Amino acid sequence: MLDLILRDARLPDGGEPVDISVKDGRIVEIRPGIKEQALEEIDAGGHLVTAPFVDSHFHMDATLTYGLPRVNESGTLLEGIALWAELKPELTAAAIKERALRLCRLSVARGTLAVRSHVDISDGRLLAVEALLEVKREMAPYLDLQLVAFPQDGFLRLPEARANLLRALDLGVEVVGGIPHFERTMAEGAESVRQLCEIAAERGLPVDLHCDETDDPNSRHVESLACETQRLGLQGRVTGSHLTSMHSMDNYYVSKLIPLMAEAELKVVANPLINITIQGRHDSYPKRRGMTRVKELAAAGLDVAFGHDCVLDPWYSLGSHDMLEVAHMGLHVGQMTGRAEMRSCFEAVTATGARVLGLEGYGLDPGCRADIVVLQCRDPIEALRLKPPRLFVLRAGKVIACCAPQRVELSLGEGTESFDPCAPAV
Ligand code: FE2
Repeated sequence: MLDLILRDARLPDGGEPVDISVKDGRIVEIRPGIKEQALEEIDAGGHLVTAPFVDSHFHMDATLTYGLPRVNESGTLLEGIALWAELKPELTAAAIKERALRLCRLSVARGTLAVRSHVDISDGRLLAVEALLEVKREMAPYLDLQLVAFPQDGFLRLPEARANLLRALDLGVEVVGGIPHFERTMAEGAESVRQLCEIAAERGLPVDLHCDETDDPNSRHVESLACETQRLGLQGRVTGSHLTSMHSMDNYYVSKLIPLMAEAELKVVANPLINITIQGRHDSYPKRRGMTRVKELAAAGLDVAFGHDCVLDPWYSLGSHDMLEVAHMGLHVGQMTGRAEMRSCFEAVTATGARVLGLEGYGLDPGCRADIVVLQCRDPIEALRLKPPRLFVLRAGKVIACCAPQRVELSLGEGTESFDPCAPAV
């Protein structure tokens, strides 16, 4: 006997609704009119089903600290960094853990079941590492949390960063992070990339660097990252996050850079909500958008995912950890309004993100883990337009979040009409 059949579900690639059967936490079959019996049936009501949302770039150690010890009045990166430095001495492992668990509940409620979070290792106490490793273990039945050892205050700039980063990896943090544009000089930035990639090569780990998160077109550490990836044979395991300097670079140089990145099989993560607010702050008018070249990188065959980066923290005063909000912003900032481009924005917070994290068993195919989200809409483009309720969130075939479809009582004349605001409008 099957464990579950999800009936009348519309797949992201269109076509007639299908049934999805599940046994032992895995998808067995996807086709119309499955006749077998199951212990449980769920009616998806012709709504869109998708594999879960993936946040490929987040900071769970800083999240939900908005207002502690004060708010970022200017909204700038520099005030955010100053604020984080003020807050760090006050942090406790218990408080970090409590906030991170609260964030995970928001994530699950919105159908985000995989998050790659950077964790600051600059403080030798490694409180955030300890707290987030506990969160990772406790949330594992519901959400995949992948941690990146992140030397926020610089890898070479802070003398103890190397020892702290290696200890974090020994404790179980699984990705090597860095911040080359924050090192003292361009040369030290390049040297940090070399050393960090060597650590990853020695330990067989992936790399994910905050790379060139600046409007300075001369910040070219992604070039070093591509080169070290090739030299050490790390192809496919290395991610450049942010890459905002690419927005400001000379087109001729970029025409050389993107093929180098493709050759190294770099993954790219753009963070549109954050970079549209933080970059371009030294500009008067016109103001640069500060998002990396998403369309051009994707056209060269690179995986380009979108991350949320921040929710209610020193750098960003808003956010609800809804990856559809992220994709919606990325679509607008990147002017990706063609139909295929809009669908690629949906994939940037689902399948492409899963490839960045290297998730096993992700997807809507037989044999994949039955992690499935039902949205109150018909297709991925409608999902981006409406950011609709997540009617069901399933993890390994079990419902871990659900809500009633949104309806509005309209009284526009005689009587009242029950109205579905998420129904197709055209
Ligand atoms: Fe970040």
